[in-house]
Amino acid sequence: SGLARFIQGLPKAELHLHIEGSLEPELMFELARRNRIALPFGSVEEVRKAYAFSNLQDFLDIYYQGADVLRTEEDFKDLALAYFRRVAADGCRHVELFFDPQTHTDRGIPFAVVADGLLAGMAEAERSLGISSKLILCFLRHLDEDAAFATLKAAEPYLDRLVGVGLDSSEVGHPPSKFERVFRAAGERGLKRVAHAGEEGPPEYVWEALQALNVDRIDHGNRALEDPRLVERLAAEGMTLTVCPLSNLKLCVVDDLKAHPIKRMLDLGLSATVNSDDPAYFGGYLGDNWQAVAERVGLTREDLVTLARNSFSGSFLTDAEKARRI
Ligand code: HPA
Ligand code: ZN
Repeated sequence: SGLARFIQGLPKAELHLHIEGSLEPELMFELARRNRIALPFGSVEEVRKAYAFSNLQDFLDIYYQGADVLRTEEDFKDLALAYFRRVAADGCRHVELFFDPQTHTDRGIPFAVVADGLLAGMAEAERSLGISSKLILCFLRHLDEDAAFATLKAAEPYLDRLVGVGLDSSEVGHPPSKFERVFRAAGERGLKRVAHAGEEGPPEYVWEALQALNVDRIDHGNRALEDPRLVERLAAEGMTLTVCPLSNLKLCVVDDLKAHPIKRMLDLGLSATVNSDDPAYFGGYLGDNWQAVAERVGLTREDLVTLARNSFSGSFLTDAEKARRI
């Protein structure tokens, strides 16, 4: 359709993508075979059927289980390359991807295996697909501060190849303030800071991400809309929100895409962006998320251009890099 072509042709960046969440069931089976791992599923269809979630934790349980097939540097490279090939078709030019090192180091996979594999996939994507990318290390917030500090220590040899740190996993009960000191340490090492906040957690968690973690972006941020003072602050700062429409639908953060707040966010002057979060689990990649909100929320082409512009202005590309990307 005309709309699909318009979206595909817009230069876009993806700023909220968990690379482990791009593991398609087909690749899960291939890696299980390659690594001689028994899966608790008999078929790709059976895996897909298990992807019915009523909240964030339902999803996280199956997402951490799926990651068990990732064992070697080649596995992480193949995972990243499969994702980049898929979003190249969507007209995606730049990606800032999250990875969860603790999910792997806690299974005995060395940090270097994970990081070297992902970085190799990123380099290959830049060469063969022309997609640039930057890597963000996420701390798992259901684990403690000491574990986050140990992860930052393990990342020490890679600091020049990481753009920032993030905070993901189970939000409620694990407020941003729990990670204030490790985020300060990351900032002192020259890293950008982002955090998931206001996906399931209250507006107070978004305030904490701003005030205790000094974040450069808010991941999700949906529940910020409940607090007018917070909205005012986010708009005044030009804070980027990395919004994930199909994720919001699958995790029941919204009941219906028609009622998705992305349009309201733009109308309130917030720098919202559209992203896929965990595309293999939530039923769509970057282009599908754009198409879904454009159609269901009824965005104008002007709105879509604003969203595309926000995806680059909110990125961690330098001005010189931006000039070459857009
Ligand atoms: N929220 C929190 N943690 C996550 C998510 C998410 O949407 N995806 C992967 N880890
Ligand atoms: Zn996320």
